[in-house]
Amino acid sequence: MKIDALFAKLWLQYLEVTPCAKPIQQLLCDEDEIINDHVAFRTYALPDIRLEDLARHFIALGYRYKDEYQFKLKKLRARYLLHPDPHVPKVFISELKVDELSSGAQRIIGQLYQQIPAGFMKDSSALYSGRPWRISYQDYQMLLSESEYAAWVAAFGYRANHFTVSVNALKRFNTLEDVNEVLIEHGYQLNRSGGPIKGSRSEMLEQSATLAEHVCVDFVEQKELIPSCFYEFALRYPDASGQLYQGFVEASADKIFDSTNMRAAG
Ligand code: NI
Repeated sequence: MKIDALFAKLWLQYLEVTPCAKPIQQLLCDEDEIINDHVAFRTYALPDIRLEDLARHFIALGYRYKDEYQFKLKKLRARYLLHPDPHVPKVFISELKVDELSSGAQRIIGQLYQQIPAGFMKDSSALYSGRPWRISYQDYQMLLSESEYAAWVAAFGYRANHFTVSVNALKRFNTLEDVNEVLIEHGYQLNRSGGPIKGSRSEMLEQSATLAEHVCVDFVEQKELIPSCFYEFALRYPDASGQLYQGFVEASADKIFDSTNMRAAG
């Protein structure tokens, strides 16, 4: 599959659970102006569905690994991949270190894992295949009480966790403050964990994000409204060489993860 086709599939799937993304895009720019800074994925660190198993599909499309990040408290590891074409979004993939969770959470994730069909992650279509398992609402809540990330992956599976608008590419906006102001004016809720803007000019990256919308998800017992995906906005500054910084800021990314957390991000 070509890069554009893959991101088009991911975008359509993302819109199903992130209906705000389209109207926000229209608020910020004309469609031909949209450049995605990065697209993010989440997974469990288990054989065949690790971060690297997802990344393999992007490497086949010309991406290369760049930096790695650790989020100790959230028990996450992440890496990002860069493509030589600057108009192609960076890919940020994180994974949950399942073996650091409680035995109860490990047992629930183990039950999900057992339901994954053999060879599931072999084809790039797995990246937008959703959830390859059934989960009960009770198990979802148990995971939620321990790791918001674990619960999100359990409920939503394989899809873009967020798309990120490159604010640098917007013609009508020069600052992230201005973007945030328009979003708030139009009634969108922002992730305020660590303040509405994460990062700074000195860190060469500023980021903000909407709070994940609540969507109806099928559980074994019933349907429930739970937080889904969010939309992110990134403004990059030049590094010492004069090129826009392409990496991420660990402390900011840590707060961005909270965009799907209805308790921490309010
Ligand atoms: Ni992001």
